[in-house]
Amino acid sequence: MTRRLRVAVLAGGRSSEHEISLASARSVLAALDPERYETLSVAIGRDGRWELEAGGEELPSGDSTNLPMPADERTPAVLGAVDVVLPILHGPFGEDGTVQGLLELLGVPYVGAGVAASALAMDKDLFKKVMRDSGIPVAAHHAIRLGDEIENPFGYPVFVKPARLGSSVGISKVRDASELRPAVELAFRHDEKVLVEEFVQGMEVEVGVLGNRVPPPVASLPGRIDTLGHDWYDFESKYDEGGMDLVIPPNLPEATIELLQRRAVDSFVASECEGLARVDFFVRDGDGEVVLNELNTMPGFTATSVWAKLFEASGIGYAAALDRLIELALERHERRSRLEF
Ligand SMILES: Nc1ncnc2c1ncn2[C@@H]1O[C@H](COP(=O)(O)OP(=O)(O)O)[C@@H](O)[C@H]1O
Ligand SMILES: [Mg+2]
Repeated sequence: MTRRLRVAVLAGGRSSEHEISLASARSVLAALDPERYETLSVAIGRDGRWELEAGGEELPSGDSTNLPMPADERTPAVLGAVDVVLPILHGPFGEDGTVQGLLELLGVPYVGAGVAASALAMDKDLFKKVMRDSGIPVAAHHAIRLGDEIENPFGYPVFVKPARLGSSVGISKVRDASELRPAVELAFRHDEKVLVEEFVQGMEVEVGVLGNRVPPPVASLPGRIDTLGHDWYDFESKYDEGGMDLVIPPNLPEATIELLQRRAVDSFVASECEGLARVDFFVRDGDGEVVLNELNTMPGFTATSVWAKLFEASGIGYAAALDRLIELALERHERRSRLEF
């Protein structure tokens, strides 16, 4: 029998999505087959401290020790010695390329997007610019940086959001000019760059993507987000019990379903993602155009999160998806280890 793969799950993290990450990581740890995987988890506190939580058996120590993780000196050595790392972290300092950079330096395979794709997808301003350049429709937006005039070129309503956050934190639907400044100030509490974004009236639809570049990544069936009376998909709708409903597949023409899946894969490839993503769209009322909203490189990842439900409905269960993600991480690492620098 081949030995079990040693898997480290990173959980928690510094962002406001800390608790969501803990829930995702618990789900992942529960689903990894103990016959195949030896697991340990590293809890990252809101204060940024890394703590080695659980280990199965004793792990051999690696030789990578000079890393900025002060809490537990065993952590970097242990991370360097595992077969694969699952950074189940959302938002800044987790999903934005920072942790991915650390894992690159350690030379350890890890699940999900690399440094550049993570940073790109995290930044709603840069991401939209790259998507436009790739011919993928996105909402018009205007970025405001520290010191800029507060301007809204779009009329009302309009969405105002921090460039790099998630879970609808710091986002406002602004209904008239008097609400603009407070909304921009709220968003500036979370980031140094704020987006004013044209309002897209339509159905919110999400698509899961799984794969690397070769063979081509696969798209799940789309799912419609029903916010059940909430005006938009705000924090409460996302996380309150019964705050939303996911309808798979949405009641849309076959051609629109196919276009959603194609654009999900196109945006994944254009942003150079690997592993997984959840790609979020609006199907605009009236003309039915499929408008890309955002791409999440580490979406909520419990067994009942949208990404898992989308793939479940598409014939790939949660545990099988995790197996595949680990394979993809190993495949990328092996592929890239042959590159000459
Ligand atoms: N341009 C827009 N037009 C209409 N609704 C929007 C727009 N931007 C955001 N929203 C609403 O706000 C929610 C959160 O915005 P989003 O950009 O996805 O940020 P987050 O990263 O926090 O999920 C969306 O799911 C949608 O309901
Ligand atoms: Mg979103």
